[in-house]
Amino acid sequence: MDLDENRLISPELEDIGEERLENSLRPKTLDEYIGQNKVKENMKVYIEAAKKRGEPLDHILLYGPPGLGKTTLANIISNEMNSNIKITSGPAIEKPGDLAALLTNLAEFDVLFIDEIHRLNKSVEEILYPALEDYTLDIMIGKGPSARSIRLDLPKFTLIGATTKAGSLATPLRDRFGIVHRLELYNTEDLTTIVKRSANILDITIDETSAQEIARRSRGTPRIANRLLKRVRDYALVLGDGNINLKITKHALNKLEIDEMGLDEIDRKLLETMIVKYGGRPVGIETLATTIGEEAETIEDVYEPYLVQIGFLSRTLRGRIPLQPAYQHLGFEWKE
Ligand SMILES: Nc1ncnc2c1ncn2[C@@H]1O[C@H](COP(=O)(O)OP(=O)(O)O)[C@@H](O)[C@H]1O
Ligand SMILES: [Mg+2]
Repeated sequence: MDLDENRLISPELEDIGEERLENSLRPKTLDEYIGQNKVKENMKVYIEAAKKRGEPLDHILLYGPPGLGKTTLANIISNEMNSNIKITSGPAIEKPGDLAALLTNLAEFDVLFIDEIHRLNKSVEEILYPALEDYTLDIMIGKGPSARSIRLDLPKFTLIGATTKAGSLATPLRDRFGIVHRLELYNTEDLTTIVKRSANILDITIDETSAQEIARRSRGTPRIANRLLKRVRDYALVLGDGNINLKITKHALNKLEIDEMGLDEIDRKLLETMIVKYGGRPVGIETLATTIGEEAETIEDVYEPYLVQIGFLSRTLRGRIPLQPAYQHLGFEWKE
């Protein structure tokens, strides 16, 4: 078993096995999709309206930390529109020609899902603009003086873009999305429902308090909740009869070094560094990253959102500062 806490908490996908697990756990309809009520209610209206008008959905941008259900939601939207979905990602589309090939192969009302859309390169982005705006594609034929541009009509499609950083999206691209939604970290109640739903699909017996315990320690992230459920199940199989109870859950999560607040070793190191080494004064993200030996980007995308959410850390103009609850949780004395 992999006991690397860093990877255990990481909301990124681990491997093919996990991808298969995720696909089996993915809700297929908006009603099955738990939480994110604001997004869900809005999407229901947009989908119904688009169907009534007989038009494709507006282009949609979904953003938020990894593991919150962006890919899942894109699949659901296409499913609810009774359309097909083509899935790709920013880094996978290397040249304008790659995107042209994708676009010309779409059928009317299809969904094109581009994951990590902030990583599209400039030349590809330029092809995308007219495609999004009036479903046309300008392509160059030939080279040198005899080169000319021809315009092709594209089927009416819907682009769904997903990103962990809406901030690094070029403004003209961002402006071409009619619908922009930010996915929020999940509360414990919704995560508990997700854990119970996943347990049910995977044929795992788990009681309410254990599901809550896993939910509380999943840093607001369904992907992590599902992963912890799987790990706890392993412990239940080895230590008991395979059924998950609170004693086994706590034992397993403690062995995995995930504490009562869902923090792992890196969270604690991050906060401790801020409290001890920098005395609680504002510290820049790059400095912090270097001090603890992590990528600044990982800290920003993976660790910070949850620490901010639970009120342990604050992002200020002068840098990051640790807050009182973090001192208490880690057993440090808080000085005003
Ligand atoms: N609202 C939700 N309800 C139930 N399960 C969810 C929900 N959101 C995400 N999940 C589960 O979490 C996992 C990760 O979701 P995913 O869509 O891949 O996240 P993202 O694309 O944002 O990184 C999926 O396996 C999915 O089953
Ligand atoms: Mg995804």
